[in-house]
Amino acid sequence: MMSSDVLIRLMKEEDIEGVLRVEHDAFSLPWTRGTFVNELRSNQFANYLVAEENGQIVGYCGIWVIVDDAHITNIAVHSSRRGRSIGEALLRHGMSLAQTLGAKQISLEVRVSNETAQGLYDKLGFQPGGIRKKYYTDNLEDALVMWARLEDGGEGDGEDEFFSMEDYFGDRDKL
Ligand SMILES: CC(C)(COP(=O)(O)OP(=O)(O)OC[C@H]1O[C@@H](n2cnc3c(N)ncnc32)[C@H](O)[C@@H]1OP(=O)(O)O)[C@@H](O)C(=O)NCCC(=O)NCCS
Repeated sequence: MMSSDVLIRLMKEEDIEGVLRVEHDAFSLPWTRGTFVNELRSNQFANYLVAEENGQIVGYCGIWVIVDDAHITNIAVHSSRRGRSIGEALLRHGMSLAQTLGAKQISLEVRVSNETAQGLYDKLGFQPGGIRKKYYTDNLEDALVMWARLEDGGEGDGEDEFFSMEDYFGDRDKL
């Protein structure tokens, strides 16, 4: 059960420091500050959510939405806060946001060895769709492509609220 102290909201530039802490904790090939700045300032397709607990960024999730296709660019929760449904909440909100923006399906790549993340994606209705050979440049590991339909809001019976058009377009900061 996720603590009620955890807030899922849209990422702002002021959050980059906190997101970088999560990023360096979670990945062997972390994205740089410049990548996040570029995503937030210049990528019209990009939407980033953060999970905030007691004023600290503890996780984030990125989603590109291009017409009716959505793609998860990244999702991570700080290792000290895992196993408390924060990743699930981020992904549910990301899927809901993508659906609100018009996406009909959503995809992602995940390391074939990353059973933890695959467990999360499976729980939210993602299915395996194929393999991208030697996709990861650090160890040439294959990526499993997974995808889910969004028409029915995805699978599962999550308790998180879904985004409405008003939530999204009314005031981005309050998400
Ligand atoms: C993947 C990740 C985001 C999950 O975040 P989390 O907050 O710990 O996950 P949650 O607590 O929300 O768990 C949700 C579901 O994920 C799966 N899951 C979570 N931890 C798991 C584990 N250790 N083993 C297997 N499945 C696991 C389960 O299906 C779980 O549902 P359940 O609690 O009903 O069993 C987190 O482990 C992480 O940041 N990993 C490093 C970065 C990464 O690999 N990102 C994915 C890149 S593609």
